[in-house]
Amino acid sequence: MAKRSDGKSRVGATANGRVHVIDHPLVAHMLTEARDRKTRPDRFRRLLAQIGALLAYEVTRDVQLDLVAIDTPMEKLRACRLRLPITVVPILRAGLGMAEGILDLIPEAHAGHIGMFRDEKRLQPVSYYEKLPLSIAKGPVILVDPMLATGGSALAAVQLLKTRGCTDIRYLCLIASPEGVAKLTGEFPTLPIYTAAIDRELDERGYILPGLGDAGDRLYGTTD
Ligand code: PRP
Ligand code: URA
Repeated sequence: MAKRSDGKSRVGATANGRVHVIDHPLVAHMLTEARDRKTRPDRFRRLLAQIGALLAYEVTRDVQLDLVAIDTPMEKLRACRLRLPITVVPILRAGLGMAEGILDLIPEAHAGHIGMFRDEKRLQPVSYYEKLPLSIAKGPVILVDPMLATGGSALAAVQLLKTRGCTDIRYLCLIASPEGVAKLTGEFPTLPIYTAAIDRELDERGYILPGLGDAGDRLYGTTD
């Protein structure tokens, strides 16, 4: 088993209850590049899509399969196909970056959108858009947002999905703060959380340290 620079054993995914930290070497490598302030928006967008797809591999590990009859060029076969619907729901804006990669991996998935931004003074989510497929409650929902900071946005989004009848919700982010994880698991103890990293802390403005800065701004170049 590979060793990390801190001497600890590396595994593909470590799980603490319902919290899964996906520390696969490819994910760790790409996350470092995404964190680097020198990484430009075009590269940053590509990285978030790629990491989204890699994490989706773990998030969907236990989804249901159906047996279907097909003809190979050689003979008849009963083989596995994903049971649909599976719905990917990014929290706008920044969730779009990772959702693109997941939808590339599962083109049959539906997409829903939840528009929310964080009021930077009160650190409370402000909802501005919602468009969810009618069938959303019939299958797993992958709720995507790169940053789980105070946890307010994730909490509001999970609550919204529950009011729409969703019972199989999986929350996927790139970087979580310990505070955000505590808030989300405190409110929803059975919610599975998948992340590439749990960082050290939040700063006084509610930003994750060391983090990667403002994910939406870095995706879409809105800092200048
Ligand atoms: C960011 C991020 C989360 C939220 C996390 O979005 O993408 O949605 O902040 O913060 P919280 O855990 O404290 O709620 P932001 O509000 O900056 O909107 P944007 O994606 O449109 O940039
Ligand atoms: N939103 C971000 O984009 N980054 C953070 O570190 C916290 C909230």
